[in-house]
Amino acid sequence: MNKDAFATRLLAWFDVSGRHDLPWQHPRTPYRVWLSEIMLQQTQVKTAAPYFERFVAALPTLPALAAAPLDDVLALWSGLGYYARARNLHAAAQRCVELHDGELPRDIGALTALPGIGRSTAAAILSQAWGDRHAILDGNVKRVLSRYHGVDGWPGQPAVEKQLWAFAGSHLPDDRMADYTQAQMDLGATLCSRSDPACVLCPLQDECVARREGRTAELPTPKPG
Ligand code: ADE
Ligand code: SF4
Repeated sequence: MNKDAFATRLLAWFDVSGRHDLPWQHPRTPYRVWLSEIMLQQTQVKTAAPYFERFVAALPTLPALAAAPLDDVLALWSGLGYYARARNLHAAAQRCVELHDGELPRDIGALTALPGIGRSTAAAILSQAWGDRHAILDGNVKRVLSRYHGVDGWPGQPAVEKQLWAFAGSHLPDDRMADYTQAQMDLGATLCSRSDPACVLCPLQDECVARREGRTAELPTPKPG
């Protein structure tokens, strides 16, 4: 059992109200998780899902992606925007064939060394694909944590971001890491929305500083200027 109230309550909420039927969850392979996380960096789940299905139908494995002409990859991406993501995906797959026996490496340093994969994306891949214990910190999680802990300051500022990474690392459950990662994204995308969060439905409401102090409209602090 987890001692941390944040993780325990979030996981219990996820069991009832989280998303369990996303295409990349069945089956949840490293290649499919990676592809989904790259698509979801700048694209909503609803938009990304049909692109994901088409992409994995055409290129079902990492070696298939590496061997495909770049034009084919860009055609599969066409309509999603931010095409650097598709170019990086292709280059990263080729790097994995050269360096990692055609597999995505199960290592945070090796993953972040690949094009298009930052610290939070690497952590999201490791936790969902293998259940490894790594904290994520994307825009949704920054919003939830700055509200829950009442963190003042724009989350893009290095000192604030460092504080949020520390909080993110402090809540990790002992197991169920894939569900925990998805649960954070789901809470941030549904209840703890940017404007008008649904605090009365939130599993974290009892301990949430922003809710207690009536500051949900002020947190996270907007970018200065
Ligand atoms: N954004 C980034 N990763 C996501 C995921 N796994 N589910 C929903 N939104 C996301
Ligand atoms: Fe977000 Fe409200 Fe939940 Fe706090 S109580 S985490 S502000 S939804």
